[in-house]
This record gives sequence, structure tokens and C-alpha cells, in this order.
Amino acid sequence: MKSISSKKLNGNILIPGDKSISHRLIILSSIAIGKSNIKGILKSDDIIKTIEAMQNFGASIEFSNPYNCSIKGVGLGGLAEPKSALDFGNSGTSARLIMGLSASHPITTLFVGDTSLSMRPMDRVLKSLVNFGSNYSLRKDNYLPAILKGSDNPIPFSFELKEPSAQIKSAVLLGALNTPGVTKVRDKYNTRDHTERLLGLYGANINITKKRSVKEITIKGVNELKGIDVSVPGDPSSALFPIIAALICKDSDITVRNVLINPTRDGAYRVLKDMGANISLLNHRIMAAEEVYDIRVKSSNLKGISIPKKFSPTMIDDYPILAIAASMAKGKTYFKGINELRFKESDRFRGILNLLEKSGVRVESKKDEIIIHGKCELKKGGIEIETNLDHRMAMSALVMGLVSKKEVKIDNYETIKTSFPSFYKVMLKIGAKLSKK
Ligand code: S3P
Repeated sequence: MKSISSKKLNGNILIPGDKSISHRLIILSSIAIGKSNIKGILKSDDIIKTIEAMQNFGASIEFSNPYNCSIKGVGLGGLAEPKSALDFGNSGTSARLIMGLSASHPITTLFVGDTSLSMRPMDRVLKSLVNFGSNYSLRKDNYLPAILKGSDNPIPFSFELKEPSAQIKSAVLLGALNTPGVTKVRDKYNTRDHTERLLGLYGANINITKKRSVKEITIKGVNELKGIDVSVPGDPSSALFPIIAALICKDSDITVRNVLINPTRDGAYRVLKDMGANISLLNHRIMAAEEVYDIRVKSSNLKGISIPKKFSPTMIDDYPILAIAASMAKGKTYFKGINELRFKESDRFRGILNLLEKSGVRVESKKDEIIIHGKCELKKGGIEIETNLDHRMAMSALVMGLVSKKEVKIDNYETIKTSFPSFYKVMLKIGAKLSKK
């Protein structure tokens, strides 16, 4: 797939359901009692991996069309032992959340993934789960494949998050559901909180307090979850691809409907506002215990900004596309405290540097900081980017092409189906010059 300089992006679009919420709805509905009806779920490659895993554990999941599904859960404690390895493909969220869930069930599960997932750290999750009484082994002590033997007699514990990872926090919370007694998790990073919000909807015995900006979540197990009817808000990280395209392509004016705006996820939106982006949040409403807006965006003259480390958990998936906005802004933009980018679907720290350097943008880097010297002018293009099985790097490169004199090509567009299967259609709808050839 390739893209080239575009102007006047225009129109009204809907982006797919949020990836984090979709994973969690599939998992929680699969362990609830009764039926859940989910509207607007994301049916991307990553979510399909969660669906297949939960079906292997015994849940019944049926789609009436690509966006709506019904799930009959097995009830807490009811996970069947999978007869063969569970393949999680590219999806770190599926693998890590499901490790948490299975750690408090008396079953043994084998986890495998693609070459990208098999190079991402897994011990950070599994070693936390040992507290429930589970055991594991990993290739080279850190990588998939993993074997996890869940606990016959799970034990509650108090846990403090050591890395800013919502996946680790959620893994422990999911394990706590089938663990008799009170499990406590302290999160000083304020990582994304969809698991906590959704657990409330399913009727879990969950309590949340905040002391001096440290959040403490307690779960009292075992209490059954009940099936729910719910609609999924649009993914704010996916929405940023057309939004940033509209900000940097001249004379654009687009509206993206139904976008989740959550304070633990909206860092990139706050940063863009500070950079001078013309973004308006309209028509506030609530869906899936979350705030949702329609977002209107007009082309803007952006200016560089310094983004502190403490913002990174609220925008961890959004640095690659934000780097494109920064490259078109006037002046320097500092991405501080971004070491976690090295552990994503690819090493995004290196990926961002590579994409910007190849495009002729001046960049500097330190151990966990990138400095982008932005200029509001078309980039040179005429480049091909290796995506390394990373959907967000692929889409970011294509948005860079929209402000490049010559084409920007990517080596693999299939990877975009990880999170945003309708990306090509949505971008063409607003007038972006993308081509599959
Ligand atoms: C996610 C958490 C984040 C994020 C990922 C989705 C989640 O990962 O990068 O895309 O749904 O919990 P970490 O928890 O590793 O930061």
C-alpha cells in the first residue's frame, strides 16, 4: 500500500470499536452467567484471537453481523482446559489478559504467538500471577511459548504495579475474580481503567479509592458476573489517524463520530490541543461506562511542545502518529520518558526514528527521549517503510505519505487489520490519496 500528498480531507466518518474495551467485553462476557449482547464490537485480527481463545475455554460466541455479537458465558470457575495450544497471533493484550484469567483456574494452558509477539516480554505478567499460586515456564525466561499451570486453590494478595502497564494490572484483576478473599492492586501510573469500569457493569464486587494520586482497586472474590447489553465506543487511538491527517493536510474539515474520550487514554488529544489543533468535542454521551463524543477537526498550524514522562501511560499507543503531527509542527517537540515504546508490537522507539529520518526530518534521541525538529512543509517521500508486523507504524507511515511530495510505501498492509480493518475505506472516504498497488 502507498500514499501521496493530499489536500482538503472532508467528510463524516465512523471508526471501529475500541480495541481495549472489545478484548475485555469478550473475556468478561465469556465468564459471566447468562447472555451478553454487544453492539459495535471491533472484529479485527487481535480481537479474533481473544474470541478464539475464549471459545477454546468453552464460551459460546456468535456474530449476527461483523459488528454485533452475543456471548453465553461459562460462569466464574467454569473455564475448560484447552485441548491444544492457544495461538494469540500479534496480540499482546489477548495473551496477557488471558494469562491473568487462567492463573486462578485449575487448568494448564499453552500460549503461542507470531514472531512479533514471541519477542515481547511476558515474565512481567506471569511473575505477578505466581502470587495466586500458579506456575509457568517461558522460552529464554521471557518469551512465548509459555506454559501456565493455574492454581487449584488461588490465594488473594496485595500487588503494586511496577511498570506502567494496564495489561499487567488487568491480568491481576481478572485472576482476582475467581480467587476467594480480597485481592488489592495499587496503580500509581493511572493506566487505562476500562477493566475496572466494565467490572462494575457486570456486577463484580469491586471497590476503587485514590490516595495521593495512587489508585487502589480491591476485588472480593468469588462473586458471579452477570451478562450485559452494551455498545462499544469508537477507538480513540484509531481515530487519531484520520484526525492527524486532517490537521496536517491543507483545507481539511472532518468529523469522526462516536469516539471514546477517557482521562486515562486521552493524552494525545490534550497534547494536540496544546499544539494548537482545531479540535472540538461535540455531543457528549455515555456508552459502556465511558464518555463518548463526536470530534470535529480542521486543518491547523501546529507548534512544537514538550510532552512530560507522566503523560506517557495516557498516550502510549499514540506516539507513532503523534510523531507525524510533530514533524509538521513549527519548532521542536520532545517525547520524554518513552522507554515502554521499545516493547510494543515492534520497537517503536527505533521505528519512529527510522520513519522520520527516512522522510528527511531532523531528529535527536537519548535513552528514553526523542526530539523532533518540526517544519510545516511537505516531506520528501520516495521511501518504503518496513512495518515489522506493527499496525500503528504502518498507518503512521501512510499518514506521512499524505504530506510527502513523492509516495510513501509500506511493505505489509495486512498488519493494519490488527486494529483497524476499515482503515483504507475510511481514509479514501475523506479523500486521502491511498492506493493498494
Ligand atoms: C492495552 C494496554 C497497553 C497498550 C495496548 C493495549 C490494554 O499496553 O499499549 O495496546 O488494552 O490494556 P501496556 O499495558 O503494555 O502498556
